[in-house]
Amino acid sequence: MRLTEEEQDMLNGKHGKAAKKSMEILTTLGDIFESKEMIDVYGVQIAGVSYANLGEAGLEWLSEMAEDGKVKVLTTLNPAGMDRENWQALGIDKEFAKNQNRAIEAFARMGIITTCSCTPYLIGNAPHYGQHIAWAESSAVCYANSVIGARTNREGGPSALAAAITGVTPNYGYHLDKNRHGQVLVKINASVKGTDEFGVLGKIIGDKLVELEKKIPYITGIPSATVEELKSFCASVATYGGTALFHMENITPEYEKYPKPSEVVFEINQKDLDKTRSGLIDDDIQIDFVSIGCPHASIHEIAKIAKLLEGKKVKKEFWITTARPTKRIADEVGYSKIIENAGAKFASDTCCVVDPIKGRFKGIMVDSAKACYYGRAKNKFKVKIGSIEDCIEEAVK
Ligand code: F3S
Repeated sequence: MRLTEEEQDMLNGKHGKAAKKSMEILTTLGDIFESKEMIDVYGVQIAGVSYANLGEAGLEWLSEMAEDGKVKVLTTLNPAGMDRENWQALGIDKEFAKNQNRAIEAFARMGIITTCSCTPYLIGNAPHYGQHIAWAESSAVCYANSVIGARTNREGGPSALAAAITGVTPNYGYHLDKNRHGQVLVKINASVKGTDEFGVLGKIIGDKLVELEKKIPYITGIPSATVEELKSFCASVATYGGTALFHMENITPEYEKYPKPSEVVFEINQKDLDKTRSGLIDDDIQIDFVSIGCPHASIHEIAKIAKLLEGKKVKKEFWITTARPTKRIADEVGYSKIIENAGAKFASDTCCVVDPIKGRFKGIMVDSAKACYYGRAKNKFKVKIGSIEDCIEEAVK
């Protein structure tokens, strides 16, 4: 790989230990993927923040990097294993909280903004069209590449941190035009509305892509989609299909930039949506937990929840997972008060998947196909998908 003088100096240790280790990670990656050079990144988003994922080994590595490492570009974090302010009310034990805070402190020592969210694009870590970034969270990577038209590979925790410390990433994969072409033409013959339905659609397309061993769908037949619907779709198609980029006709910014695949490879109709939706509802489920905000809820979704909960009381554990800056806006405009008066809880900085809640609940209701996947796979809950309205109806029942 061709390195600039500064990059070579970093590799030789002239900029300190953390920069040297970072450049070693990035040049190794670059060699594996036959990248010719590094490119500057505008911003970074780091995953693997929960102490449950990091463990002591991860924490030790972070602490070593934090001895002299400082980030060069805007960097934020993925959700942590707890709400950093409200962890006690959400049932997190003291020991876990102490260790989670040690991890967050190590990130902070490196100059990372310790906002823990999987929707960095909603809270200021927002690249524009064509900018190169190094993000790690799969749903955010898919959103950045597809909906914004920025460019990122799906980074691991170490490679994202390395990009933050050096300000560069190897130029390969989705950073290059040649790897951004739609591969599979998908036609939607049904009306798709709401975060839950877009999640169901993401699962159908994701599953099919795995079967076809393809990565980039070009989707037609969706007349419009909101930010919230697209973030749900991204989370789902990335979870079920490993998809980091899609094009959606008349919606995503690059849909005309590359040739449209010529033949429809598969179509999706109402029956497919209904069948897949029923697959995300377990038999004999006893719902004792409702959670909205996977990916993290936007202020628009919180406003909707406040309106639906006004004057009601929830009878089940009910979390709204969101980024702390979004929660602060909700506090200021009074949505939080309405929601908390109804007995629901905010779980900022975290979510129902990365929180260590296995064994605490039996059945979870969500509006997210991604949360269904991890609710089953990681936490062994029974799951049920529904719209935000359905989730609230269940919570107050
Ligand atoms: Fe975000 Fe957690 Fe869902 S990280 S995308 S809310 S699983």
